[in-house]
Amino acid sequence: MKVTVFGTGYVGLVTGACLAEVGHDVVCVDIDEAKVEGLNRGVVPIYEPGLEDMVLANHGAGRLAFTTDPVSAIAHGEILFIAVGTPPDEDGSADLQYVLAVARTIGQSLVRPAIVVNKSTVPVGTADRVRTAIDAELAARGATIAFDVVSNPEFLKEGAAVNDCMRPDRIVLGSRSPAAIERMKRLYAPFNRNHERIVVMDERSAELTKYAANAMLATKISFMNEMANIAERVGADIEMVRHGIGSDPRIGYHFIYPGAGYGGSCFPKDVQALGRTARQYGYDARLLEAVEAVNHSQKSKLFELLQRHFDGRLSGRCFAVWGLAFKPNTDDMREASSRTLIEQLQAAGATVRAHDPEAMDEARRIFGEHPGLVFCRTPAEALQGADALVVVTEWKAFWNPDFAALAGALRERAVFDGRNIYDPASVEAAGLAYYGIGRGRSL
Ligand code: UGA
Repeated sequence: MKVTVFGTGYVGLVTGACLAEVGHDVVCVDIDEAKVEGLNRGVVPIYEPGLEDMVLANHGAGRLAFTTDPVSAIAHGEILFIAVGTPPDEDGSADLQYVLAVARTIGQSLVRPAIVVNKSTVPVGTADRVRTAIDAELAARGATIAFDVVSNPEFLKEGAAVNDCMRPDRIVLGSRSPAAIERMKRLYAPFNRNHERIVVMDERSAELTKYAANAMLATKISFMNEMANIAERVGADIEMVRHGIGSDPRIGYHFIYPGAGYGGSCFPKDVQALGRTARQYGYDARLLEAVEAVNHSQKSKLFELLQRHFDGRLSGRCFAVWGLAFKPNTDDMREASSRTLIEQLQAAGATVRAHDPEAMDEARRIFGEHPGLVFCRTPAEALQGADALVVVTEWKAFWNPDFAALAGALRERAVFDGRNIYDPASVEAAGLAYYGIGRGRSL
């Protein structure tokens, strides 16, 4: 089928590449000329396992094209995906200006019946607004072309995006048009083998499903961080508690890892936006506010542990920071806990030696040149001259350090484990002080 995807960010690019991979004829359109030019030369602007190979193969095979020209792109697609960003505006609501701009462009240039698919995470009611925007443009040029709107939220995780897209848990389709649903089912048939993954519903339910999923996951994390804070005070180990509760299938082992707070482009933004939507409809979403508040303070947790260990005297000290990305397998640092920590350390007069396997270019872009922040090529280099080690992101490369070498390198012999990846006894056996998240024994 002929598909057009607006937006070549995480969602758009991965969706376009995966649809091309299963044989659809895909054109991706973006207003960023440099990005499109790069993609046409095979330069994939984000780090995502498997994506580059997939883009190169399908581009080479002629099934995946990139353009800045919306007119030809709209003429190409029988299915038009909107996968542009919805950043939060000042009050935390999702800013729909890019989504609605694409809708207007579609209305201005549509030449034949099409299905317009909302893949961006958009507030409840956006499908109606997209429909109205297209209708208004069609009316303005006196055109009557039939189109349907489908809400089809994306559930991919950064770092596993290609896999999530190729092997989805579920494909949510929200539309009032049975014909559009049938065509979407055909489009997704290659992803829907062995068992039924497609869940059909109305547009508003589909839009809310996306927010509900992310809010639930964020709630699990904040809940566990709250339990960790209690565990720390009462002298319990949250890792034991995690095992103890996860074995109940109603709770499950997934997404109950305490840590230095959740980050990324989705949870912080979506929890806020859903709270905002609720407020607009006259409902005070107290649980969502608490989820956000717990996460906000959790991002300062590592700094608090450092202050505690060093009796509040951090000025002039140097800390090795392992992990800058908001989670492993990505170079994304949006809302990353490392940013809070580094800013707090800088404000306290400490210096940082940081290493991340993928996110150092991004960190340089964010922090710029700063005498108190040195980027190191290897984890070991980051330790040189440092007083203590702080692990913020649980990259696999950090899981099994030589603790004796760590004890030799760190001046103050202390490890602050923001993701509870180490066994406290092994760290302490090497003569290092160990601090984790919610591990009462470290008090
Ligand atoms: C999240 C959801 O997991 C996806 O299902 C969703 O499609 C996506 O948002 C989206 O809306 O586009 P993502 O932001 O890529 O995906 O990352 P996650 O793997 O969910 O991690 C988010 C944050 O939670 C990370 O900072 C991670 O360190 C933290 N986390 C995760 C925990 O602190 N504990 C956990 O148990 C799990």
